[in-house]
Amino acid sequence: MDTFISNSPAETFELGRRWAAKVRPGWVVGLIGDLGTGKTQLVKGLAAGLGITGTVTSPTFALLQEHDDGALPLAHIDLYRLERPSEIIGAGLEHHLTTPDGVTAVEWFERWLGRDWQPGQPLPESIQPSVGQALRLVHLSDEGETKRKIVHEDFGH
Ligand SMILES: Nc1ncnc2c1ncn2[C@@H]1O[C@H](COP(=O)(O)OP(=O)(O)OP(=O)(O)O)[C@@H](O)[C@H]1O
Ligand SMILES: [Mg+2]
Repeated sequence: MDTFISNSPAETFELGRRWAAKVRPGWVVGLIGDLGTGKTQLVKGLAAGLGITGTVTSPTFALLQEHDDGALPLAHIDLYRLERPSEIIGAGLEHHLTTPDGVTAVEWFERWLGRDWQPGQPLPESIQPSVGQALRLVHLSDEGETKRKIVHEDFGH
């Protein structure tokens, strides 16, 4: 468990940029946090660190935005509009969440964890990454106007 306090959008971006040096094909970065806590800002930094030049925004309506011009393919998913795992599977997103070709960054990852899961509980068995894959679970919270707490925990490597 690793806690980072960000005092500005730029610091959150920089954290994401640093993570780009660590991520490997098969990684899922699962972002959990309310509206405006900086999930997209973190993905923008991650994308920049991977050398991606396209615009990164929450794919709230498209659900999935793929960026293929970086060091690794980045699938950016926003599950805000999908309520439960069955809807996520129905939308054809399962592959990106379980066996990513490159890196998958997921906003509103709690939708994939299901309604019974609460922060602090162990990961559901079905979410445990398989061999060669990894999950970085990230909790973001608002601690003030420009202060965000970003806590992450890695599973499966
Ligand atoms: N320390 C900080 N880190 C990140 N964003 C910050 C910070 N301080 C203020 N902000 C502001 O908070 C907002 C974060 O927006 P962002 O789109 O990244 O949130 P989000 O978690 O993706 O929200 P949504 O659920 O709506 O997609 C931006 O307006 C940003 O300028
Ligand atoms: Mg967002």
